[in-house]
Amino acid sequence: MNKQHKTKFISFSSQKGGVGKSTFTTLVASTLHYRLGYNVAVFDADFPQHSLVKMKARDLAKVIENEHLKKLAYKQFTTINKKAYPIMQHKADSVLDAAQEFVNTSPVPIDVLFFDLPGTVNTPGILKALAGMHHIFTPITADRLVMESTLIFTQLLQDVIMKKGETSIKTINLFWNQVDGRESTPLYDLYDQLIGQLGLSLMQSQIKNSSRFRKESEVDTKTVFRSTVMPPDERLMKACRFDLFINEFLNIIQL
Ligand SMILES: Nc1ncnc2c1ncn2[C@@H]1O[C@H](COP(=O)(O)OP(=O)(O)OP(=O)(O)O)[C@@H](O)[C@H]1O
Ligand SMILES: [Mg+2]
Repeated sequence: MNKQHKTKFISFSSQKGGVGKSTFTTLVASTLHYRLGYNVAVFDADFPQHSLVKMKARDLAKVIENEHLKKLAYKQFTTINKKAYPIMQHKADSVLDAAQEFVNTSPVPIDVLFFDLPGTVNTPGILKALAGMHHIFTPITADRLVMESTLIFTQLLQDVIMKKGETSIKTINLFWNQVDGRESTPLYDLYDQLIGQLGLSLMQSQIKNSSRFRKESEVDTKTVFRSTVMPPDERLMKACRFDLFINEFLNIIQL
């Protein structure tokens, strides 16, 4: 079978900035690659920020500076016996061609390719890039502006691109991020209803709002959460219900 047919193209995507695209790309990619045994690679097409490319340099430096993490990383790389996943920088308008080329020439078969795409429709080639994904995951927060732009854009994607048939998209999945336990539920219920009425799919798992996400790990930390070179600590994953998210994610993409 052709290798490129087996590689899943996936993007955490949103029209709204700061909702967790890069964070989830990293958390999911690292879990799959370093803990679950899949081979992943990432294309960072979020020009001009390229935050993931920069993040990897920072993550490596953090591991080297910290004795405990250095030991953990050494153990990890000798146990799983594979390298850190590549993060490649590319412009959005030709990222699909670059991705196809990468998949075709990669010495190891790639199970999942993640695309961190720019958050605006005005970027040249963004719609084409999105249409080339197999699965799109869109973080949403209970914020009116986020919800409005997300619902409008997701419907457009669903209607225009998918009905024309010129697309690889199999699923578009919204999911709640930064859910605060103390918030009243009627707002969520209302949005859940609206999402259903529009015929969009909503994932069951919700990610809690947790200070973990905002914390850059300290020099002497013994646990890792969001890192491009190590998987998220299992206890921290459970605490924000990220473990449930991963299960549902794997169920959807059907590797
Ligand atoms: N569940 C969560 N709880 C708390 N903070 C979170 C959560 N998810 C994401 N964040 C925080 O929100 C901020 C934005 O996340 P991130 O950079 O991943 O978003 P983005 O969509 O990639 O943004 P951009 O549009 O700038 O590329 C980060 O500081 C991140 O740590
Ligand atoms: Mg980002």
